[in-house]
This record gives sequence, structure tokens and C-alpha cells, in this order.
Amino acid sequence: MTDEKRVRRRDATKKSWAEPWKVKMVEPARWTTREHRERCLEETGFNTFLLRSEDVTIDLLTDSGTSAMSDRQWAGLMLGDEAYAGSRNYYHLEANVQKYYGYRYVVPTHQGRGAEHLIAKMFIKPGDFIPGNMYFTTTRVHQELAGGTFADVIVDEAHDPANEHPFKGNVDLGKLEDLIARVGSRRIPYVSLGATVNMAGGQPVSMQNLRDLRSLCDRHGIPILLDATRAIENAYFIQQREGGYGGKSVAEILLEFCSITDGSWMSAKKDTLVNIGGWLAVNDVEKFDEARNLVVVFEGLHTYGGLAGRDMEAMAIGIEESVDDDHIRARVGQVEYLGQKLLGWGIPIVLPIGGHAVFIDAKRFYPHIPQDHFPAQALAADIYIEGGIRTMERGIVSAGRDPETGRHRSPRLELVRVTIPRRVYTQAHMDVTAEAIEEAWWNRDLATGLRMIYEPKYLRFFQARFQRG
Ligand code: F0G
Repeated sequence: MTDEKRVRRRDATKKSWAEPWKVKMVEPARWTTREHRERCLEETGFNTFLLRSEDVTIDLLTDSGTSAMSDRQWAGLMLGDEAYAGSRNYYHLEANVQKYYGYRYVVPTHQGRGAEHLIAKMFIKPGDFIPGNMYFTTTRVHQELAGGTFADVIVDEAHDPANEHPFKGNVDLGKLEDLIARVGSRRIPYVSLGATVNMAGGQPVSMQNLRDLRSLCDRHGIPILLDATRAIENAYFIQQREGGYGGKSVAEILLEFCSITDGSWMSAKKDTLVNIGGWLAVNDVEKFDEARNLVVVFEGLHTYGGLAGRDMEAMAIGIEESVDDDHIRARVGQVEYLGQKLLGWGIPIVLPIGGHAVFIDAKRFYPHIPQDHFPAQALAADIYIEGGIRTMERGIVSAGRDPETGRHRSPRLELVRVTIPRRVYTQAHMDVTAEAIEEAWWNRDLATGLRMIYEPKYLRFFQARFQRG
């Protein structure tokens, strides 16, 4: 009889993720008292956008521009070529957008909305309709300012926080066909496709849905433009959830996904791991000429677009780091970790857990507060008071008013976004965050709504002010 020794190994799919980096530099976080936080909120009109960052301990307001850069990116800053024209960093950025996203022509912009502005100006005529898979705040405002009307064509599942459809970002082709039949394809300059879909909870679009969308759009001569802000997170979800993609790298999936679209705009402040920057990219040379011409009016010369050379270098390097499979697994894994913790305590969140944030369902958290008393705005305030944790409202305040009727738009989703910056916080920060949210949950029956006492005209959620009651 032989003495058989068996090697025992964990199944690769069951291994925990860990960050593929270690910390080299730290920035202190300040703990504050509940009294201090209550005072801060009173002074800032219960709007977490108006808090000073120094009064926040764990800042989960946004994943935008809040990433930690790597040592390579910081080193890249020193390679900034600050020439007004033709900076070498522009060419590095252009080459990496071409290599990883696959588009032919690239125009840098200071951030995503700079690119959205140019895209809207280039494509939209007054009276046009722009179908999209749920609105995004800045995207829609640029479409409206150009004279267009946004039309939501996302699948119904996206509006239901409890629905566990794996691709809640998908376009409902029937809704798009209805719009085409109603207004005619000549009044549809492009489909505005977000992937992942921020306002739906960081939900992905499947490759198959994009292919089907492509066939429909080809039949009607409508281009597809991609909001690529979190397309790498989208590619990761395709790898994890869509048949046939499990063996492909995120980089390969990203390239395939973008190849089905005609152009793209990007807030590099998210996926790309930089603090500022964006770009737009197209395959059509005439559109490129137009973009290159417009950018000099609104952003800066076409080889810097409102950015310093060093910022473009950090972006070029950030693109390479962002498509790494280990990076993206840990990034989305951290969001999942926080979400699972809340779910375990019965706290209502949007399912499936998204790529960049956990979205708390304020309608189920505070069912006694009517939507026009801003339950999500109130919950974001309460979470700040509990733990010094800053989150943001993504509900009726963010949705704004209908430009025609002047009434509040009342979205079905009334959410608080708990957004995780990339490479910034540890699992312990997630634990402390979850505990603060749980305390708000324990005391939910005592919560009260808010009244809006100041409302700016555009993108009101950034600067609106509220009072209790
Ligand atoms: N598109 C999406 C999907 C976004 O999430 C954002 C910004 C933009 C475009 C605009 O880009 O901020 O660089 O001008 N989202 C931030 C957020 C503000 O917190 O979700 P930007």
C-alpha cells in the first residue's frame, strides 16, 4: 500500500480577492463628534456636496477624481511636457486610447462633461431625441442645452431595485423601435449608451445586447456613442456573467465592446485612476475634424484639451493599470464586500450590487417619508451624522425638473449612493461605513424628511439647500 499524499488547494473561484498593491503614502483622516457633524449639516443646508472635506472622515461621495494614483502615475507627472502644442504626453494618451479602447481619433478634454458638451454640440440639432439607457445628470443637461430631448430606453428591470437581472443596463430594443417609429430616425442623432449605468446602480450592459442594438441602429443609420466612463467595470461584469467571456481578459472584452460602437466620451476621473481628465474619441474623420475644431473654443488646443501635459501622462499610465484583471477584481470585490455586509443585516440595497457603489433604496429604508420630502437626501444626511461618512442622493433631487412642465421629475429610484473611490480605502473603512449605515437603519422610524429652501437652475443636486421638516 502506498502512502498517498494529496495536495489540497482552494478552488480558484473561491479565493478571496486582495488589492494588487501595497500602501506607500498615507493621508490622515479626521474623526469628528456627532455635535460637530450636526452643526456642519445645518450650516450646509443638508447637502453633502456643500460639506468641507475636512469635516468628512470617510468620503464616499463619489468615485470621480478621488482615486489614489500609483507610483508609476506619480512618476509620470514628472514627465509632463508642458508645451502648448504637440505635448508628447498627448501622443502617449492617444496611443493608449487607441490601443485599449480601439478608437481611431482622440481629443482630450478637461473632464467628462467637457467631452459631453462637444459631443452634444457636434451631433444634436434642436428638436432631436437622444435615446439612452437611463439618464445621467451632466450628459442629459448637455443634450438639453443643445436643443435635444432625452428618451429613456433602458430595460424596465433597471427601475426596480430588487430585480436581480444580471444586465440591468441593457437597452430595451422595443422601446427604441417605438421611438424611431414615433419621431423618425432622422431626428435621432445617436444612441447614448452608458456602460455601466451609473444612475441604475452601476449596472452593466451585455455584449449581446450591444450587438443587437448595433443591428437595429444599422438598419436605421443611427450611430452608437458610448459613455465609457466605467466601461472597464462593465467589461469585468461581462467576464463574470456572460456566456463565452469567462476565459477572456477584461482588456480583450473592453476592446470588443468599444469596437461595436462609433465613438465614445470619457470621464477619466473614474476607471482611469486619475484625479482629473477626460477625452472623446471617434472613428469618423469628419467628426474628428469638427471635434478638434470645437475643442479649441471651449477647452484648449486639441493636443491638451484643458489639461496639463502631466495630467495626460497620468491618464495614459492609468489606462494601462485600469484594465488589469487583478485590479478590477479587487475594485469591484470591495464594492461587493460592503454591499453583502448591508444585505446581511437586511438593509435594502439595489441588486445586483453594482461596479462602483452600493446604492441604498431610500424608499424602503424610509417608507414613511414621501418622495417630495426627499428621503434619499435625508438618509445621506443621517449617514453623515452617524459616522462622518459622506454619500450622495441619487433620487428626486438629482432628477431635477421637467423643462416643459417645471415639475419635479419623480424617478422610481430614490437612492443613496455609497461610492467607493479606487485604491483609497481599506476593508476596515468598509466595516465602519456599514456600521454607521446600520445605526441609521436601527433608528429609521425616527427619521424625518426635508424641505428644499434653495434650488439652483442647473444640476440642482450640487448646490440645493434644505431644512428639516
Ligand atoms: N458620465 C458618467 C456615467 C458619469 O458618472 C459622469 C460623472 C460623467 C459622465 C461626467 O464626467 O464628472 O468628469 O465631468 N460622474 C460623477 C459622479 C460626477 O459622481 O458620478 P465628469
